[in-house]
Order: sequence, then C-alpha cells, then structure tokens
Amino acid sequence: MSTQSIGIFDSGIGGTSIFKEIHAQLPNEHTIYLADSKNAPYGNKSNTEIIELSIKNTELLLEKNCKLIVVACNTATTNAVKLLRETYDVPFIGIEPAIKPAALNTKTKAVGILATKGTLSSELFHNTTDLYANGIKIIEQIGEGIVPLIETGKTNSDEMKALLQTYMKPMLEANIDYLVLGCTHYPYLIPMLLELLPKHIKIIDSGLAVAKQTHAVLKFHNLLNTSNKTPENTFYSNGNVAILKAILNDRFSVKYLDF
Ligand code: DGL
Repeated sequence: MSTQSIGIFDSGIGGTSIFKEIHAQLPNEHTIYLADSKNAPYGNKSNTEIIELSIKNTELLLEKNCKLIVVACNTATTNAVKLLRETYDVPFIGIEPAIKPAALNTKTKAVGILATKGTLSSELFHNTTDLYANGIKIIEQIGEGIVPLIETGKTNSDEMKALLQTYMKPMLEANIDYLVLGCTHYPYLIPMLLELLPKHIKIIDSGLAVAKQTHAVLKFHNLLNTSNKTPENTFYSNGNVAILKAILNDRFSVKYLDF
C-alpha cells in the first residue's frame, strides 16, 4: 500500500503550489494531480455544488488507487472535507487559511485575508476565525476575478495588478501587518504583491504546513513510500493542458482527461 500514490485535487492549477511543497518534502512519493479547470472557479459555486465536485474528484483518485488525498483547495476543504472524511476510508489532508499564525503574531492587531467567496462564507472559516482572532481586526476580501486570470495564464498582467491594488486598499487603510493568502492559486501572486505592498507586511500561506501534515499523517499510518523505484508524478487536466504544464515549469508531463 505504501507504494500507492498521494492523490491531490484542486479546482484548477492553483493546487500545484501545494504539489510543489509536497514534492519538496516527500520526493520519494508517487503523486496524481487532478486539475478540475473545466469547473473553475469553485469559489462562486454553492456549497452543494462544491461538495458534488469534491466527491467526483475524490472518487476518480480512489479509482486510481490513491492511499491518501490532499484537498489542495481552500474552497473545497472548507465546504467538503468533513463529509469526505465521513464518507471515504482513506486519510484526507485539507487546507485552510493560516489565520492562526497571523492572529498570534500581528503587532498592529489587523490582519488581511484574501480568499474566495466560498471559503470566506464557510462555517469552518468562521469557526477558525472565532477561535483565534479574538480582539483582532480581520479584513476579509473576496478575490473576485483572480482565479480566472491565473487559469488563463494572465498571472502577471496589468489586469491582475489593477485587481490587487483595489483589493489591498482597504487592508492598507486598516494598517494590516499580515496578509493571509486563503486560496491555493494565490501564492503565484506573491512576486506582484511584494511589489505592491510595504515591506513590513508579511504574506503567509498554508502550503508548507500542508506538506508537513501530509508527511506526518503518512508516517502515522505507516504509509510512507520506502521503495527505491523512481517515483512518478502524474498530472491530469480537463482544461488547458499547456497552462498547467507552464505553471509546472515544463518539468512534468500533463495529460488531458475528461472528468
Ligand atoms: N484554489 C482554490 C482555493 O484554494 C479554488 C479557487 C476557485 O476555484 O475559486 O480556494
């Protein structure tokens, strides 16, 4: 069983930011990545639709014999991971906005969070915020329009810059010192955000924590791959294969699959 793959899914290419962290921490693991770009963005869909899509992706990864599933999407995690864990036998790793470290470390007592509508309106997000952000001002901003630009290869466009300037304005006015990136597509915006934001603002995401948690859970279940065979990293997209390939710096092969 330990030689089976880790399954990873996202609404599109954003979860590759999580794949890269997992691959760096666990280079010996086989992985299968599903980019559900055909249905991106998930962020504006209803809770029921997000759950249905998450089930579809999970079942495909289970058909492909995955030993553990990483829900590399904040929107899918905050809306569906509870049900996935109750329904299927494999371990699931989810990703949530890193509100806790930001709230614990902020000096200005103001934290910005950029995430999808689906994440910001979820019960799980509200519970986490209530738990850790007592006495701290949380400036929530829906990243409307960001995911479609990234999915169409326009990450570094003027259009993106204009959106980010608009979204950062209320956060700067509130004197944030932490910006939490609550969507797995957003780490690809870090170079542009570093240009736009004053130096003292720290940008955080949950990628490394997810990779560490994946390692810990595999170890706990005795599922770490101990074989010496070169591992395979397989990518499937039901959308634009070239864009997924490019975000992976052409280092991996990507196949089209209609799912
Ligand atoms: N990458 C996703 C997330 O982490 C989903 C974005 C979307 O499809 O709206 O939330």
